[in-house]
Amino acid sequence: MFVQIDNISKQFQTQSGNLTVLKNININIDRGEFVCIVGASGSGKSTLLRQIAGLDTPSSGEIRIAGVPVKGPSPDRGMVFQNYTLYPWLSVQENTEFGLKLQGVSKRERRERASYYLNVVGLSDFARCLPNELSGGMKQRVAIARALVCEPQILLMDEPFGALDIHTKESMHEFIIDLWQRTKITILSITHDVEEAVFLSNRIFVLSSRPGTVKKEMTINLAERGANIKRHTIFQDYRDELMVLLRQYGAEGLVAAKV
Ligand SMILES: Nc1ncnc2c1ncn2[C@@H]1O[C@H](COP(=O)(O)OP(=O)(O)O)[C@@H](O)[C@H]1O
Ligand SMILES: [Mg+2]
Repeated sequence: MFVQIDNISKQFQTQSGNLTVLKNININIDRGEFVCIVGASGSGKSTLLRQIAGLDTPSSGEIRIAGVPVKGPSPDRGMVFQNYTLYPWLSVQENTEFGLKLQGVSKRERRERASYYLNVVGLSDFARCLPNELSGGMKQRVAIARALVCEPQILLMDEPFGALDIHTKESMHEFIIDLWQRTKITILSITHDVEEAVFLSNRIFVLSSRPGTVKKEMTINLAERGANIKRHTIFQDYRDELMVLLRQYGAEGLVAAKV
């Protein structure tokens, strides 16, 4: 297994006591999979992703990537967040080069690699622009290029399309599927958008709330993932099944939280 999330739990000390946010999470991901984790708001999705990214440490359990325990952040794990984390004063090219600069990669190689990935995300013509000259979808594509330029083993995305309008979001879904198929990179993405999860994933893990536990694993078998698939019965059946699960487990968490 490429990614092994082995019995992860996470507690936070809060003013009102010990808060268990994640409990006994077990998830295995093969190289080249596109996996989505879905759960209601507050179910611990971002907390889980932060543990995988190495930005935080689980209270118990272990995460291994390619057999190596995660001990801290690494360029091996590319991160994309919901809110564009581009530097507004740097050009698209400079933003894309940023991680390489931190790694001490030479100027020439930085330029070449960033240009390559800006081409991969279809933004070569915008290399000299500043982020505020770009649309939301384009900014997210820069964020993806910036993560890919370090040639990570896995791309971790936390609600990457959550701030986009519906049309931009749909075109980004097609874009990321195409990118995944071309680069064969392993992707772990987080969403509370049921259609997004079904459209993108080959497997989905459904989290309950408070504490976040894996309630269900779904395998999605779609022959093709073009825009038209959303009108097909098989897509709609998956979507309805996931919606029911999310309602069930989201509500369970909310009831538990009130007690
Ligand atoms: N550093 C922290 N200290 C205390 N509580 C936290 C911390 N980080 C997250 N939480 C709590 O953990 C729960 C899950 O948060 P989060 O992982 O952001 O959920 P999601 O991404 O699914 O919306 C929330 O109740 C949140 O308040
Ligand atoms: Mg979150």
